[in-house]
Amino acid sequence: MEDGILEIKIQMNGMSGRVNRNLIYPNHMASMLGSSVVILTGAGISAESGVSTFRDNDGLWEEHRIEDVATPHAWESNPELVWHFYQTRRRQLLEVKPNPAHYALSKLEDGVKEFTLITQNVDDLHERGGSSNVIHMHGRLRTLRCEVSKKYEERMEEEDLQNDFLFCTCCAEPNRVRPDIVWFGEMPMHLEEIYEAIERCDYFMVIGSSGHVYPAAGLVNVAHSCGAKTILVNFEPPANAFAFDEIHLGKAGEILPDLVNSWLE
Ligand code: APR
Repeated sequence: MEDGILEIKIQMNGMSGRVNRNLIYPNHMASMLGSSVVILTGAGISAESGVSTFRDNDGLWEEHRIEDVATPHAWESNPELVWHFYQTRRRQLLEVKPNPAHYALSKLEDGVKEFTLITQNVDDLHERGGSSNVIHMHGRLRTLRCEVSKKYEERMEEEDLQNDFLFCTCCAEPNRVRPDIVWFGEMPMHLEEIYEAIERCDYFMVIGSSGHVYPAAGLVNVAHSCGAKTILVNFEPPANAFAFDEIHLGKAGEILPDLVNSWLE
């Protein structure tokens, strides 16, 4: 083992290998200045802001069954339960703040030639952390979608955050709105734009995602096959750990600010 490098063994999906915990590559890592960078974030980047992840201990899917709150069938069969689940999460947006990882990505955006930020998160912490043009592939909590016209509108006033169902402003006869969220069994949003950005990037980085949900978890393979260097920042090895060229294990809010500084040297 080299000085300062703690190697841990990971075994996943029948494969095994070694990754370095909290490792920064000051000598190996080329600067990202002048490069095209694509980032994919997951729930882990918002964990230090107090937003629950999905699959960690005490995660949202430990408290709720996915089938009960995050599928079109759940909305059809028990809309009250689904609505309360998402209204609680929408109200939580008013209580949480971006953390150093969100701010670090906004700094990276300002320092590189081309930058695309894709998130699986439905919170607004990237925008509030200073990032622009965030691509929300799994939808957004701030917006609600008309069940009939499919148009979305931002609804975050106090009267929009109660437990009663809400109705659209787009139709002559207002129709009920649903959470503007991509549920299991539905198509993620903006896929064409996402694949286009990945096909021309030099670096593809995933931060805070367990690598369980596709197609998001497979984007690293697309990036790899297009010649990008692939980097992971995550608390623990994810299901798709072997797809990455470089892995940094730790809390994103603690390690990303230093990593970004080193990438912008
Ligand atoms: N810093 C970095 N990573 C962290 C931190 C942290 N502070 N805290 C937790 N993590 C890691 C966990 O180790 C885990 O691997 O973040 C990952 C979170 O994984 P999930 O809870 O599965 O979240 P995500 O990958 O975003 O889920 C994908 O699943 O249910 C759906 O639609 C939902 O968008 C979501 C999708």
